[in-house]
Amino acid sequence: MQMETPTPAGKNFIRRATFAEIDGILAVQRAAPECAQWTRADYEEVLATSAILTVPEPQSFSPRHVVLCALQGDTVVGFAVGSRLRFAETVDCELENMAVLPTHRRCGVGRDMVQALLVWSREQGGPQRAMQLMLEARASNTAALELYHKMGFLPVGRRREYYSQPTDDAILMAWFPAAKQPQNGEPHF
Ligand SMILES: CC(C)(COP(=O)(O)OP(=O)(O)OC[C@H]1O[C@@H](n2cnc3c(N)ncnc32)[C@H](O)[C@@H]1OP(=O)(O)O)[C@@H](O)C(=O)NCCC(=O)NCCS
Repeated sequence: MQMETPTPAGKNFIRRATFAEIDGILAVQRAAPECAQWTRADYEEVLATSAILTVPEPQSFSPRHVVLCALQGDTVVGFAVGSRLRFAETVDCELENMAVLPTHRRCGVGRDMVQALLVWSREQGGPQRAMQLMLEARASNTAALELYHKMGFLPVGRRREYYSQPTDDAILMAWFPAAKQPQNGEPHF
């Protein structure tokens, strides 16, 4: 994992977030009521557990969480949070939260962050283990569902009235390696 140098993904500048980006992430989140409204403490917690561990068990080489931010200059224009849920014969990862500033949508920022999370998820398993990246989204969230569909996620379930305020079903989607493979030589996150 190369953490020190920010790495461009596609045409958008995406790298791991640090504690310095929490204010910017919260600003993006406030502008996106469709995404999960996490607190500063939530981000501090996931960033704290995204540090690279040095214990020599294979499952400890990779961080438990990743927080990505998309930058334009010093401004955070998007963020995405991924988590590794299970480390066994398959590695299950989850896209936990994501948003792009309304002024920067439809420019490929969401697409590039999902692509970066796919690369990260694949790295969680290494060459030996299959991975899958799962997520859930409101049934009414056309933008998110279209994005995930375009990126190769497949619908795998529906939870009735899972969301409140307003009440909405959750669509569960998963990306499987057989569906679409990230290309070799992509940046690591
Ligand atoms: C969902 C979201 C992250 C997409 O980010 P984005 O940067 O605008 O997405 P991209 O520009 O990468 O779009 C990639 C593709 O997704 C689809 N898409 C994105 N927004 C769409 C919309 N409003 N309507 C239909 N399709 C859309 C399109 O296929 C698009 O490709 P195209 O622009 O070539 O047609 C953004 O709309 C957002 O922040 N929404 C609010 C928060 C949210 O819903 N988070 C997800 C919670 S599960």
